[in-house]
Amino acid sequence: MTKIVDHAFDEHFKTRLKQYQTLLKEHKYDYLVVPAGMPIRKYLDDMDYPFKVNPHFKALVPLTHNPHCQIIIPQSGKPTLLYYQPVDFWHTVPADPSGSYTTHFNIHSIAKPADALKHFPKDGRVVLLGQKEGILDAVSFSAQNPESLVFPLYWDRAYKSAYEIECIAQANRIAARAHNAARDAFYAGETEQGINLAYLKAAGVQENDMPYGNIVALNESAAILHYTDCKFDKPKQHHSFLIDAGADVNGYASDITRTYSFAKNDEFADMIKAMDDMHLGLLDDIKIGGSYVDLHVKAHYQIADILKRFEFVTATAEELVESGVSSAFFPHGLGHQLGLQVHDVGGHQTNREGGVTPPPQEHPFLRNTRQLEENQVLTVEPGLYFIETLLADVRETELKSKINWEKIEKFKPFGGIRIEDDIVVTKDGHRNLSREAFNELD
Ligand code: GLY
Ligand code: MN
Ligand code: MN
Repeated sequence: MTKIVDHAFDEHFKTRLKQYQTLLKEHKYDYLVVPAGMPIRKYLDDMDYPFKVNPHFKALVPLTHNPHCQIIIPQSGKPTLLYYQPVDFWHTVPADPSGSYTTHFNIHSIAKPADALKHFPKDGRVVLLGQKEGILDAVSFSAQNPESLVFPLYWDRAYKSAYEIECIAQANRIAARAHNAARDAFYAGETEQGINLAYLKAAGVQENDMPYGNIVALNESAAILHYTDCKFDKPKQHHSFLIDAGADVNGYASDITRTYSFAKNDEFADMIKAMDDMHLGLLDDIKIGGSYVDLHVKAHYQIADILKRFEFVTATAEELVESGVSSAFFPHGLGHQLGLQVHDVGGHQTNREGGVTPPPQEHPFLRNTRQLEENQVLTVEPGLYFIETLLADVRETELKSKINWEKIEKFKPFGGIRIEDDIVVTKDGHRNLSREAFNELD
């Protein structure tokens, strides 16, 4: 575990364990089994896809590369960690467990996945939190991922501990360093592939260890929201660069987007500045009790204002938003809960017991409808794009005559703009983990 966050883990773990054990008592389960999971074998092959750990497992221990481990939590007392260390001359064998988390577990090393079964509870009501696969296939559990446990755990996951916030802050520091390297590679005229390599080198990680596929988009590709082609060939001309990439620390993600204009002082650069100012202005509304849905709708009005200011439209912001046309330029949600998963769980949950609060009908891709509360970590990521498939629908609307189609055509080679920061809701407003990280590098 990274040293700087080691000290905060103890308090984090004690609080989490209490939540888990209280839930076990309330719902009359004697034990909880949380598997790390196992790699998925490629069809007709003898190799596996990159291993992705069960998020419920990394919620308890900072281990992301340890398949076949199991955690057993009793209703009271110390949990057990079954730590997989095979005899294997083909692959690296995991080092002995070390770090702050080890003091919270009775740890047994197991050489084979099935050795875990010897340590499983022999009686009582045992609940599984994870996938029933591998050695677990033959185990009979009282319940698997019951909503009575999963919903409260998802709900609670939105309130980050000091340890978790520090992990996400560190993930922002790594990503900020790598973002700057990617920016420099862009201005040096690199290809998407060259820029991506610069990012990975500066972050010091392999691509498989990224929390999500890096989005490294030159020119019109910036209009493809989840673009991951990463082309090797050089475009005729560099116009713009959108990079959406993060990092992982102890299983916690950062998720940052920046957009650049190659010319640095052209109209597209002015638009990036306008979007950045607007983004930072939105953050002033982040406070306990605030509505994230309202913030998303406010972003629509402000993006519509920018479209007018830069003469892409003559329609008013009201006309653009109320007709739904603003969604053609800003089709995704303002952001999402961030943590163990990039799009963290529980964003649409109504309360601790469950329920779904869907986003407004006009904004189906908004991933968070929860009220803002202290220690939530969310992204804020307004965007403005020129996406032909969405613009085609606008050509069929009454507002089509209030759109400057010529200017839009001129800007399609720039693709679009997204600015994304990772924000903690605090007592006094917010902390911007991404800006803090970039500022440290200045
Ligand atoms: N990187 C994916 C997202 O921003 O949601
Ligand atoms: Mn992102
Ligand atoms: Mn995001």
